[in-house]
Amino acid sequence: MYRIAPSILSADCAKLGDEVRAVIAAGADWIHLDVMDNHYVPNLTFGPMICKALKPHAVRADGAKVPLDVHMMVRPVDALAQLFAQAGADLISFHPDATAHAHRSVQAIKAAGCQVGLVFNPAMPLDVLDWLIDDIDLVLVMSVNPGFGGQSFIDSALRKVEAARKRIAASGRDVRLEIDGGIKPGNIRRAADAGADTFVAGSAIFGQPDYAAVVAAMRRALERESAEPLTGRSET
Ligand code: DX5
Ligand code: ZN
Repeated sequence: MYRIAPSILSADCAKLGDEVRAVIAAGADWIHLDVMDNHYVPNLTFGPMICKALKPHAVRADGAKVPLDVHMMVRPVDALAQLFAQAGADLISFHPDATAHAHRSVQAIKAAGCQVGLVFNPAMPLDVLDWLIDDIDLVLVMSVNPGFGGQSFIDSALRKVEAARKRIAASGRDVRLEIDGGIKPGNIRRAADAGADTFVAGSAIFGQPDYAAVVAAMRRALERESAEPLTGRSET
């Protein structure tokens, strides 16, 4: 049920292929690729060439493919999304405020053969889900402002995760709920209790010498009984 998606933003960029293999060996379920354009966010990172180059590395020892989870922090969205689809992205998520026509962007990514997600910054409401929840595969709640790894977790994201979980439940659809930013073994359980099922973590994993130890600590936290009693929480 739970997925851990290491963000290679915090990996050693001089040896990205090896880093992807190492973090998969350490137990990663997805590889999270943060695409930044120096316009929508002040940073500049990976283009489709990097995605294509990493694709053959995103495999387990038994040959099973590991999904490439592309988080686009770019404006506009559509042309670049097509290039990432051609470069081997499995999921492509974008910020609805970064495109003039979010519905069109969703349809274009699906037509290119990828799963599609919508990303919500800390100050963004979830309103567009009223109109797009039936068309998407993933909701990504930002628990930091986009642009950089290693920032502090913003607590109000937990309320947004709870609200997103309610909307997903009401839709009756199988939509993943991912949280991104400041996730560590010490707070991943709170994010899960709020309703997240997929966890991006960059600096928490790549900032430690033993990736497997961090992933294992996250899984142990997720397997524990809920930290808070669930009584009184709406499960709708
Ligand atoms: C921030 C990115 C995140 C980032 C998370 O814009 O979307 O995926 O890599 O990094 P940490 O886990 O270090 O907060
Ligand atoms: Zn991200």
